[in-house]
Amino acid sequence: MRIAVLGTGVVGRTIATRLAGLGHQVGMGSRTADNATAAAWVQQTGAGSTHGTFAEVVGDAELVFNCTSGAGSLDAVRGVGAGNLAGKVLVDVANPLDHSHGMPPTLLVCNTDSLAEQLQRELPETKVVKALNTMSALVMVEPGRVPGQHDVFLCGDDDAAKAMVGEILRSFGWPDRSIVDLGQISAARGPEMYLALWLRLYGALGTGDFNIGVAHR
Ligand SMILES: NC(=O)c1ccc[n+]([C@@H]2O[C@H](COP(=O)([O-])OP(=O)(O)OC[C@H]3O[C@@H](n4cnc5c(N)ncnc54)[C@H](OP(=O)(O)O)[C@@H]3O)[C@@H](O)[C@H]2O)c1
Repeated sequence: MRIAVLGTGVVGRTIATRLAGLGHQVGMGSRTADNATAAAWVQQTGAGSTHGTFAEVVGDAELVFNCTSGAGSLDAVRGVGAGNLAGKVLVDVANPLDHSHGMPPTLLVCNTDSLAEQLQRELPETKVVKALNTMSALVMVEPGRVPGQHDVFLCGDDDAAKAMVGEILRSFGWPDRSIVDLGQISAARGPEMYLALWLRLYGALGTGDFNIGVAHR
């Protein structure tokens, strides 16, 4: 599949590398065409990988991952243009963290709205699916790093888009029973607000190799 990954940070690089390893053609996007991190990633990854501006890598991609900073995500997709993202599935992995008041960061949007909903409103013809934002980058693409049964959440308004993202998650190693569909895109408020707890758990446990496992009968 042709996949665009918007973002050159640890999440963008980790997801892009995993997707390329699975045989997908991956383009890594940045604000600038000559981003050194993206260029180095292409050099390392080799055939089938490309890099460019956010708009360039979206091009004819069938699937797009938003791995930009939460504060920059709306600007990133505005740079691509709603028309260029129309009809595509956008997996939103970002968290709307506000680092301007020091540590720990707070949320730029919460409670009655979410970043995923803002993106969906900005891109009415795009199928936004929130997924993977509740864990560290390495756990996203290699769930076996965390022992035992644990879960990944997804939500969005389009069932076919969620099915497509579910396939990608299975290819990352997530078993069916661990992929929990929370419903419509408004359900993204919960996984985004979980960040307040994730950050404290990270401090308490001293590792990013942990995740939520929902016990139920
Ligand atoms: N780190 C984790 O383990 C983790 C886990 C779960 C979710 N997340 C979320 O995943 C996202 C990516 O995290 P990260 O740590 O990999 O990287 P990050 O440092 O949060 O974001 C880096 C990317 O954001 C772009 N960016 C920054 N400011 C921008 C702006 N004003 N307009 C447009 N684009 C902008 C950068 O563009 P350039 O390439 O041009 O510099 C870069 O590609 C974040 O939303 C984060 O909250 C992170």
